Amino acid sequence: MTVRSRISGIGMYVPERVLTNADLERMVDTSDTWIQDRTGVRERRIAADDETASTMGIQAARQALEQAEVDPKDLDLVITATTSPDGMFPAVASRIQDGLGATGAGAFDVNAACVGFLSGLATATQFIATGAYERILVVGTELLSRIVDWSDRTTCVLFADGAGAVVVEAGGQGGPLSFVLHSDGSGAQTLYADGPCGVPNGLEPDGYYISMDGRHIFKFAVQAMDSATRESVEMAGLDLSDIDLMIPHQANLRIINATTKALGMPPERAMVNVDRYGNTSSASIPIALREAWEQGRLHEGDRIAFVTFGGGLVWGAMIFEWVPVGPLRPVAEPVHATASGN
Ligand code: ACO
Repeated sequence: MTVRSRISGIGMYVPERVLTNADLERMVDTSDTWIQDRTGVRERRIAADDETASTMGIQAARQALEQAEVDPKDLDLVITATTSPDGMFPAVASRIQDGLGATGAGAFDVNAACVGFLSGLATATQFIATGAYERILVVGTELLSRIVDWSDRTTCVLFADGAGAVVVEAGGQGGPLSFVLHSDGSGAQTLYADGPCGVPNGLEPDGYYISMDGRHIFKFAVQAMDSATRESVEMAGLDLSDIDLMIPHQANLRIINATTKALGMPPERAMVNVDRYGNTSSASIPIALREAWEQGRLHEGDRIAFVTFGGGLVWGAMIFEWVPVGPLRPVAEPVHATASGN
């Protein structure tokens, strides 16, 4: 039998600086009405000059570890999902491991764009299922504002900065019931950001900016989130009506609403906070999970659907049976028969 895992701590961190739609109106030819109607975003957070993916990840991780009551020294592994690392290497996970003082842990990054956190979470649960490790920190952290072209109105209204983290521990009676991860690399040119190690083309870039075919991604996103949810629900032996809460990637409110509609779910069954944070790529699901917990929306035994899509193209989902955060409560002692045999 494989070992079950549970999420024992959830943390988030968003930078202090708020960039509103009114601020964007002064930067590009756009309007608050257009942005709210087409994306659902009202404001987003932008990192300070001295912040990076690792500094934000450390903040989110500290909150998650505190909630789990886990000492960083007891972590076996740090997995970080990011598309906006501090540098090409070392891994952001190693920087976070060092910043936390997680001296007993290994560390590596995963890059699967907005599916990065789900890929990291799936990886963590597999390390636990085999019995290899007992305590893993999974961080999703993004500093996308440094790869956004602030003169491109089609992308700058969407993306933002932030970090989320979870502590995944062995034990409990719930955990992942199923997950699916998919990729179609032939769609790479519809959503990408180049980097310094690509084939030189003789042009000196101003920066390595996010490039996106928004209409194409919109259609892909709804179809991908719909099919991944159905596939993972079926794999878990459940029906769509068994899902208590969907925590979707926060890319665009219209994409989230179109997905719940395609699945025949009431829209309020999906957690939404894209209005306050924009699209934080691999940080969006753990940030939404933390806020779902703060709002009292996670109950023991609930079936949570994590669903996401992103540049790759990639998409995936996981069905997770919820176990309360914090240390595991001791199991009640069985009532033994008395010595007289009664
Ligand atoms: N303000 C005002 N007008 C704008 C803006 C803006 N910020 N951006 C585009 N427009 C204009 C366009 O130029 C176009 O004008 P035209 O009709 O004169 O050509 C018009 O608005 C409509 O443009 P569309 O692209 O058709 O608008 P759409 O309704 O598709 O909304 C959007 C655009 C919001 C980008 C939408 O397509 C979308 O959300 N796509 C998915 C994006 C996404 O999720 N990306 C991230 C994926 S994964 C990851 O996180 C890495």
